[in-house]
Amino acid sequence: MAAAPRRLLLPLLLPLAWAAGCAASLGGGWAAGALPEEERCTVERADASLTFPRFLQRFAFSRPVIIRGATDNSVFQALCTKDKLLGAFGDRLVRLSTANTYSYRKVDVPFQEYVEHLLKPQDPAALGSDTLYFFGDNNFTEWGPLFQKYVPPPFRIPGTRGAYSFGIAGVGSGVPFHWHGPGYSEVIFGRKRWFLYPPDKTPHFHPNETTLAWLHHTYPTLPPGERPLECTIHPGEVLYFPDRWWHATLNLDTSVFISTFLG
Ligand SMILES: *[C@@H]1O[C@H](CO)[C@@H](O)[C@H](O)[C@H]1NC(C)=O
Ligand SMILES: *[C@@H]1O[C@H](CO)[C@@H](O)[C@H](O)[C@H]1NC(C)=O
Repeated sequence: MAAAPRRLLLPLLLPLAWAAGCAASLGGGWAAGALPEEERCTVERADASLTFPRFLQRFAFSRPVIIRGATDNSVFQALCTKDKLLGAFGDRLVRLSTANTYSYRKVDVPFQEYVEHLLKPQDPAALGSDTLYFFGDNNFTEWGPLFQKYVPPPFRIPGTRGAYSFGIAGVGSGVPFHWHGPGYSEVIFGRKRWFLYPPDKTPHFHPNETTLAWLHHTYPTLPPGERPLECTIHPGEVLYFPDRWWHATLNLDTSVFISTFLG
């Protein structure tokens, strides 16, 4: 191509390329959201220089941490675009759970139906107990070859093994406050905002209310001393939560995510 036309074309094409790039590579074809991140991240952050002894001493048994750049999941990410996952798993059944604290109801639907009809922005008026969420209950026979491409977070707690839970959830969805054993959470596409309290500080929440409703109704009434630790994780970061820490999550975008539970 001659130099002059290229110079003319480039400013016209750049915005298009940028828009296509957002859809196709940055967000994997998954819809972005407009919910706000926290004003100030209050979870400690570490980078790839964090050592295992330091992790054990400072975080493993006492506080959450967000580790950035410790693993490279670009290969796994490339397999988790909307087109790739629909192509590989569209006709497979996935098991959905309700997005409340004590979730018992399970529904099996084809993955394609979930993505095309159920994966929508959270209705702010809906109850968590009436919202279906794809996270965990994965069929490892079918999804195992994909999960083998995931590079797990680098540190284990001695005596534990990691178990994966994979999910995809819509803008504004999330799981309200609950607790369990220690583990990690990583977003592959999208952003996930976290709210955490130590085991001895039971938060104010209703177990059937969505995290979005809690953020709108309860969070603004909290005195500064009663606010949770909070932070939003982005692709390339992994959040570690210690044993029995209360946590609630909010997907700011349509998110593809995977947890590694240490048990
Ligand atoms: C997992 O998938 C395999 C292969 O499709 C199937 O035979 C099996 O019944 C599934 N397991 C569960 C628990 O759904
Ligand atoms: C939460 O919702 C479930 C399912 O609809 C219901 O059985 C349960 O009683 C509700 N819990 C509370 C505390 O309202």
